[in-house]
Amino acid sequence: MLTSKLFLLRNHSRQGTRSILCWTTQTRSLASKPQIFENPSNFTPIPPEDLALQFKHRLAGRKYLPGSQGKGFPEFLTSARQGFPYALRADSADHVSVEKWGQLCREQLDKAIPEYNAVLFRNLPLFDAGDFAKFTSSLGYKPTNYEGGTGNRYLAEGETEVYLSTSDPPDFNIELHNEMACSPVHPKKVMFFCLTEPNEEWGGVTPLVRNSEVFAQLDPEVVEKLVERQIRYTRYLPDEKHNPYASWQQSFMTGDPKKVEEYLKREKFNYEWEKGTGNLFYWYSLPPLATHPITGRKIWFTQPNVHHNTYYKESPMFDGVTLPDHMYPTHTTYGDGSEIDPEVIEHIRATGWRNAVGFPWRKRDVIVLDNLAVQHGRLSFKGDRQLLAYLTAE
Ligand SMILES: [Fe+2]
Repeated sequence: MLTSKLFLLRNHSRQGTRSILCWTTQTRSLASKPQIFENPSNFTPIPPEDLALQFKHRLAGRKYLPGSQGKGFPEFLTSARQGFPYALRADSADHVSVEKWGQLCREQLDKAIPEYNAVLFRNLPLFDAGDFAKFTSSLGYKPTNYEGGTGNRYLAEGETEVYLSTSDPPDFNIELHNEMACSPVHPKKVMFFCLTEPNEEWGGVTPLVRNSEVFAQLDPEVVEKLVERQIRYTRYLPDEKHNPYASWQQSFMTGDPKKVEEYLKREKFNYEWEKGTGNLFYWYSLPPLATHPITGRKIWFTQPNVHHNTYYKESPMFDGVTLPDHMYPTHTTYGDGSEIDPEVIEHIRATGWRNAVGFPWRKRDVIVLDNLAVQHGRLSFKGDRQLLAYLTAE
């Protein structure tokens, strides 16, 4: 199936993916729901007006945003609303340690995550990657790594569990996705820490969308088609001697091909090492729906769009580059290998962005996402913005 050809990629970027949705239509309005705790000890709820975007962020027609020229794309990103994300400001308490804040936040997360799916903490006494590592460890979740990840992601310097959220070029927009929804191996929660506050005029928003809202608005025929035909995910990863970016060594966090094969065999993925180059090609099929491990609900958890090679074709990393479809870093087809109808991809992308919200990051903010319930993305920016990431296995 593979022909030996030079891997032409320049820097490529990419993110993992994930999402959820209830099979039973779940149209309740969280905006009208009362908050589950009016005055939690040590925290003050942040009103929605403090999370309103202060500038318009164009979506339709936006450069380097996959699918933004398609039908149904909203013109601008909507602001955060009551309860999404659920937001708490930590009250000043100089005598409270980072570890104790971790325990206090865990108590809030246990109450709020099942209902709100995304919780933002502001004003925690965290100042660098070490503080974030200490805090996340104190939350008491089991961490997981990014082995097999599709994103351009590296560990933060000196850290073993805290990652730079992405090393993608800042002018690229990362499509909405659940982390690693393209794989049976995916984190259950994703946390981000704002190390460098963005200039809002310059962008740098992290849009969020609930999978349940996307699922409820998808055309049932599109869902049915994907359920029947499934989604085949393919990856083509160069040996780092050809291109270190998106290499199999980066993705699997090892230089040992035997460890890569152990992973692929364990997950029952099909794979081939390309003769003459040492590049890796692998593929497998998954349904678009899954079961939420906590709620037991049927969820939309998939990424036929984010894994599709148009993600790269519409990126700055592939300007002027044309490759055979299977030689982009990732691609999706129907389970039988035939191409997914372009209007299906277009519809999924537009439905996500129509329901997405954004909020202005503040330096030292921490957001915790139920990775099976909430998708995240990134809008392009100018200047410096650095988020750190932490992934959990539960
Ligand atoms: Fe991501």
